[in-house]
Amino acid sequence: MGGRVVQLLLKAGHESVAASRSVEVDAYTGIGLNEAFAGADGVVDCLNVNTARAKASVDFYDTTARHVISAAQRAGVGHLVCLSIVNARNPQVNKHMGLYQGKTAQEERYQNSGIPTTIVRSTQWFELAEQLLDQMRIGPVAVIPRMQCQPVAADAVARLIVSAVELGPEAPAKVELAGPEPRDLATLARLMSRRNAVLHEHRPHARVFSFPIPGMHALNGGLLPNAGVPTDPTTFEEWLLNGKIA
Ligand SMILES: NC(=O)c1ccc[n+]([C@@H]2O[C@H](COP(=O)([O-])OP(=O)(O)OC[C@H]3O[C@@H](n4cnc5c(N)ncnc54)[C@H](OP(=O)(O)O)[C@@H]3O)[C@@H](O)[C@H]2O)c1
Repeated sequence: MGGRVVQLLLKAGHESVAASRSVEVDAYTGIGLNEAFAGADGVVDCLNVNTARAKASVDFYDTTARHVISAAQRAGVGHLVCLSIVNARNPQVNKHMGLYQGKTAQEERYQNSGIPTTIVRSTQWFELAEQLLDQMRIGPVAVIPRMQCQPVAADAVARLIVSAVELGPEAPAKVELAGPEPRDLATLARLMSRRNAVLHEHRPHARVFSFPIPGMHALNGGLLPNAGVPTDPTTFEEWLLNGKIA
């Protein structure tokens, strides 16, 4: 997401820099943040950690948010944007999803930062279907739990982030975005696998087996947005047909 946001900002004529470990900026240790933020009007946090463990997730998101906020205060940054997930703060949802406990800690840090902050919460992205397919694939099969959600194209989320950046400190404290309709992520992974096999010879079709996990609220409706959350109209099928560009 960070890369998408930087590209969109540049395209809109803004000066925009990517800061990550690949350019020796580490938000976990704080190294390089002062230099990266010098002269910035706004900072967008699109950090990610690959863990399902609550302890590791809370440690990462809380520590990085603390460092980003301190460096932003020192640099006189006027507006922060933090990318988060719809319903991540719901205890019914995050009690089984350690990652979301980290996102909760991150949101809380930003909300108490003393700097005007916009929390951008999105539902799961269409791109997640492909990531799951790759992670859960064993040769010709992939085994993926059923997961009810209302996914959205990552590009639509990037546009929302950019609109918050452009509003600056006047932007709302919280904005949310969902996709057009509830879907099962395992079904999307199945469709994605078929599509990839047609388009790419080197990506043979994986047969997707899906299974329910009863009792896990996060997979059984807990991630669906509340009524009133704005939606982007692009469907998964339209996104697939258009070469995954929303
Ligand atoms: N996937 C979804 O469906 C979804 C939906 C809603 C919200 N979100 C949220 O969106 C956020 C971004 O997700 P993503 O999929 O875009 O993540 P991603 O592709 O894994 O990218 C994460 C970025 O963070 C950088 N990074 C990681 N650790 C860092 C550190 N210690 N210091 C500086 N940079 C660091 C990485 O670059 P380097 O490796 O170069 O450091 C990379 O540029 C996450 O917080 C996620 O929870 C995701």
